[in-house]
Amino acid sequence: MSFVHALATRALRGLDPEDAHGLAIQALKAGLGPVAGRDDPILATELCGLKLSNPVGLAPGFDKNAEAFGPMLRAGFGFVECGTVTPCPRPATLGPGSSG
Ligand SMILES: Cc1cc2nc3c(=O)[nH]c(=O)nc-3n(C[C@H](O)[C@H](O)[C@H](O)COP(=O)(O)O)c2cc1C
Repeated sequence: MSFVHALATRALRGLDPEDAHGLAIQALKAGLGPVAGRDDPILATELCGLKLSNPVGLAPGFDKNAEAFGPMLRAGFGFVECGTVTPCPRPATLGPGSSG
């Protein structure tokens, strides 16, 4: 991780999680995300008929509205799952064991 990305990560961790999430998506859309090098061919894999350059994917919940899958693929993920896309977004709720 570059110094700039380490600094940005530290700053994001000081924010409300929903604000940090939104800001991260905006930064990615603005082209401020990291760019990974080419994957070693040994990492190439096939999943459900899809050829992936590596087997590490981003789970749904981060790119809820399919806004930043390009930047996340450039950051090095082998695949990105988007969603859930919904016309009726709701604020996040805290799960059991959360202190907030
Ligand atoms: C449609 C969909 C939406 C999801 N949205 C969220 C989310 O908003 N926040 C979250 O923490 N996990 C969400 N998840 C679950 C994550 O994708 C992931 O499975 C979970 O965070 C556990 O990740 P881990 O196994 O790497 O710890 C969602 C999963 C699906 C299938």
